Amino acid sequence: MSMLEAKDISMVFPDNGYEALSRVSIRVGEGESVGIVGESGSGKSTLASIMGGLLRPTGGRVLYQGRDIAELRGQEKKDFRTSVQYIFQDPKQAMNPFYSLMRVLEEPLRINRKDLGRQERRRLIEDMVRRLGLETDLLSRHADEISGGQAQRIVIARALLLEPRIIIADECVSALDLSVQAQIINILRHIRKDTGAAFLFISHDIELVRYFCDRIHVMLHGRIVETLDADRLREDAQSDYTRLLLGDTYE
Ligand SMILES: Nc1ncnc2c1ncn2[C@@H]1O[C@H](COP(=O)(O)OP(=O)(O)O)[C@@H](O)[C@H]1O
Ligand SMILES: [Mg+2]
Repeated sequence: MSMLEAKDISMVFPDNGYEALSRVSIRVGEGESVGIVGESGSGKSTLASIMGGLLRPTGGRVLYQGRDIAELRGQEKKDFRTSVQYIFQDPKQAMNPFYSLMRVLEEPLRINRKDLGRQERRRLIEDMVRRLGLETDLLSRHADEISGGQAQRIVIARALLLEPRIIIADECVSALDLSVQAQIINILRHIRKDTGAAFLFISHDIELVRYFCDRIHVMLHGRIVETLDADRLREDAQSDYTRLLLGDTYE
């Protein structure tokens, strides 16, 4: 069974009638890392929002462990909300600027892990922050007092504290300097190995997607043009568009 599956998803935005997705199907298996690559405007973020349950598609279904997410209620819905976590492009925007970083990290635990006392909660947070290569004294600061790379680590920590089974990472390093990008990607690779979490990894950068993923869907104008194994990308790529993304040149 797939962990998360999009079946025949279409999305026509009601305000402008624009068809952002047309019959897209994708499956993410247990512990798998699935990539979506395509230029800006191809529908990647729309698909990510739909698969994460943030946006309702106009056609098709999303299944989480075989169940239609539109039909989840009560505890099942809560489980889905914690099991699927997001990491977006702009980490600072994802944090309340008036909160200390400790409070940023405590908030979701307070809501979702009522079994934990304050001490236990803080210990979990400090362990996680160290695991991501940050000093714990950073936790007294606010979002505007840290770097972009530090902020993305905090956002990753916040997601991981809920022990997700699948992480949707949408352009999660695009706003960072190249050297910091590499650090964050390697952290995510370690997390993958340690936790067995599945990833839906989205980027316009095909090299990054290739480095991180097992399987890659290439998107163009709201459709999947081809699906390729990451380690056979160059050999197997058929479409001109994929070749263009790979930087192949034509005579
Ligand atoms: N809420 C919306 N209403 C209308 N059109 C939208 C909305 N969100 C995105 N779009 C359009 O859908 C297309 C796909 O956008 P998006 O999914 O953000 O692409 P990507 O993430 O690949 O850059 C774009 O043309 C965008 O302008
Ligand atoms: Mg996007």
